[in-house]
Amino acid sequence: MSGPLRLLVLVSGSGSLLQALLDAQAAGVLPAQVVAVGADRESCTGLERAERAGVPTFVEAVSAHPDRAAWDVALAKQVREYAPDLVVTAGFMKILGPTTLGCATFINTHPALLPSFPGAHGVRDALAHGVRVTGSTAHLVDAGVDTGPIIEQRVVEITDDDTEETLHERIKAVERIMLVDVVTRMATGGWRVEGRRCLVG
Ligand code: GAR
Repeated sequence: MSGPLRLLVLVSGSGSLLQALLDAQAAGVLPAQVVAVGADRESCTGLERAERAGVPTFVEAVSAHPDRAAWDVALAKQVREYAPDLVVTAGFMKILGPTTLGCATFINTHPALLPSFPGAHGVRDALAHGVRVTGSTAHLVDAGVDTGPIIEQRVVEITDDDTEETLHERIKAVERIMLVDVVTRMATGGWRVEGRRCLVG
């Protein structure tokens, strides 16, 4: 790989994780360049953050295609255009298809300590179960739902008065730091997968 790691980020929502990457890049502490930001919907704050930073954006909505397979092929084409070394799904709330996953290495953050509480409601499910600690997991994306090899995990304690919102905000604060750390380590040291483990550096 010559030059900084080419990073493509996929978003669906507020994009605060994307902002952490953009801020680290602007501060000169991220050995990577966000080359594009894609979304699965026409309008979201994540796309606005990318536009403000002058990063190219694209939208590929499932509803614009006859089925998920066609969406997968179209998204893969968009991703390939930017030749990313690494793709980060930062609050991207769609399961990626095989064609897209074949384009690059994908990493995701999930707001729970996997393999506990996978899926779209990791924060709510951890609270409902009554666990005393939860956190965030950075992992490689595979064909399953939050099942890929784990790269890093950070713990967040749950307090008696936590709501889904207060807990998710504390998790996201941890995730923003973890994601910048993980991308930095992957960009500088590379990565390899050994069974269920992803070894970085
Ligand atoms: C983060 O908590 C991330 O882990 C989660 O969405 C949030 C995105 O926040 N991702 C998932 O739940 C993926 N299944 P953001 O939009 O502010 O970056």
